[in-house]
Amino acid sequence: MAKVSIVGAGNVGATAAQRLFEKNLCDVVLLDIVEGLPQGKALDISHSARILGITSKITGTNDYADTAGSDVIIVTSGAARKPGMTRDQLIGINAGIVGDVVEKASTISPEAIILIVTNPVDVMTWLAIKKSGFGWKRVIGLSGVLDSSRLAYLIASELDAPVTDVNAYVWGEHGQNMVVIPRLNTVRGVPITKMLSGDVISGLIERTVGSGAEVVSLLKTSSAYYAPSAAVVRMAEAILKDTQEVLPCAAYLNGEYGLSDVVCGVPVKLGKNGLESIIEIDLTPDEKKQLSTSAATISKMIADAGLA
Ligand code: LAC
Repeated sequence: MAKVSIVGAGNVGATAAQRLFEKNLCDVVLLDIVEGLPQGKALDISHSARILGITSKITGTNDYADTAGSDVIIVTSGAARKPGMTRDQLIGINAGIVGDVVEKASTISPEAIILIVTNPVDVMTWLAIKKSGFGWKRVIGLSGVLDSSRLAYLIASELDAPVTDVNAYVWGEHGQNMVVIPRLNTVRGVPITKMLSGDVISGLIERTVGSGAEVVSLLKTSSAYYAPSAAVVRMAEAILKDTQEVLPCAAYLNGEYGLSDVVCGVPVKLGKNGLESIIEIDLTPDEKKQLSTSAATISKMIADAGLA
């Protein structure tokens, strides 16, 4: 059976562990530095196996040795936002944590594909590529799958349409500079620009950009985790099952869309090799500018944090 290790047994990590376990697709290792936490959560999840008919295994640990030989490593460790914070305010604390986690985890699982969840995710993915030496294909960030699902929810609610009929796409930074190209967002092939006014579409985009903060402000002591865990598990599943799906993810760009040495949300193909390819579509000069402005924010964060 395939093996997926999840580093960080907080809300996102533990919920991702539960979701993956319940797919019966791979053995799951949940690792955290807090003694007892990953063990307790893994034991609790294991106790549901008979009820749910699951034969895969889940283990909790504080020891990286137990993650050896993982096919996929999901990194969720680090601080989450508090109400009123933006994701980029986490960079100072999270860069050290992610750097350390990636160095340890990549050494012991040299063939793994790394999925980064920790924020600010575009910067953390860039850092993980540099720390692991794995190259652009095997380190991918969670962004567009989550943001697109949030936008799809809002479009479906606005139009009173089934959410499964909506195809929504969010690219660019997983932050204030998300990029939505309205003409690409459709309901069964019909662009939303034919069904909603520009003002309504702008409002939906604005709410999508603020969706993570909206959840933080309601929960107060936690950031979102049900949708983020669903999104990262979807990415892991595409890799484990080699589905070759096109999904929007935070990927390292090397000239694509005119952008270099930066990680940014774009459409990619996911499969057993991780990022099988980055897909470039034709953009208007204005759309291209939106994407490059978004990427420039990420490059600036990398430089300002002294990571480059
Ligand atoms: C959010 C976190 C995962 O958007 O950034 O909820």
